[in-house]
Amino acid sequence: MSTAIFRRDVLPFAAALCVLAAATLAADGLLHLLGMVWLGRWLGIPGTLLIVASFGYSLRKRKLIRHGQPATLLRWHEGLAWLGSLLILVHAGVHFNAILPWLATVAMAINIVSGLTGKFLLDRARRRLDAARATLQARGVAPGTGDVAYLDALSFDAVRKWRVVHFPITLAFGVLALAHIVSSLLFWGWR
Ligand code: HEM
Repeated sequence: MSTAIFRRDVLPFAAALCVLAAATLAADGLLHLLGMVWLGRWLGIPGTLLIVASFGYSLRKRKLIRHGQPATLLRWHEGLAWLGSLLILVHAGVHFNAILPWLATVAMAINIVSGLTGKFLLDRARRRLDAARATLQARGVAPGTGDVAYLDALSFDAVRKWRVVHFPITLAFGVLALAHIVSSLLFWGWR
């Protein structure tokens, strides 16, 4: 693997995951330091709400809502999902009592990795498309002609394939998280 690909594609991906892990440890450490570990239990609620809010982008993309710029909503989707995941990870903490919530957490972790993969695939597709357009323009070929359309299709094909994988992962996460939420509300024993 060339150094350029490593620096451009792999490093930011690994950095995004490391920052999330470091922020989780820092937030959890802070709660322990302040003697507020109990707060972690409640963080499941705002964490879930933030993740649910991040789906605004999916609704807009499927034209189920008409407000907002898709590009802006995508940035909000990434930010809200990241913050929500952070709160959920702090909520999960390091206690192992039940299997279901941990399955939901594993599904969420796979979802985060898949989401970041999509983000970097999309960024790469955009970069390649811009470069191809610039080359064709420098040669005096108007953008929008056959070559660009072909590259367009090729770059976005990878993103389309990724979506086919990302959707069932999100669905599995949603179902497991919902099962955990319903069961914890049914057996409401907040200590
Ligand atoms: C409205 C949202 C949520 C509520 C009300 C909620 C509630 C709770 C409660 C009451 C517990 C403590 C269970 C116990 O110790 O007996 C718990 C633990 C846990 N929750 Fe949630 N939760 C929510 C969202 C989530 C989500 C979305 C995930 C994961 C994706 C999650 C993962 C976990 C994990 C891993 C634990 C620790 C389980 C253990 O101790 O083994 N929670 N949650």
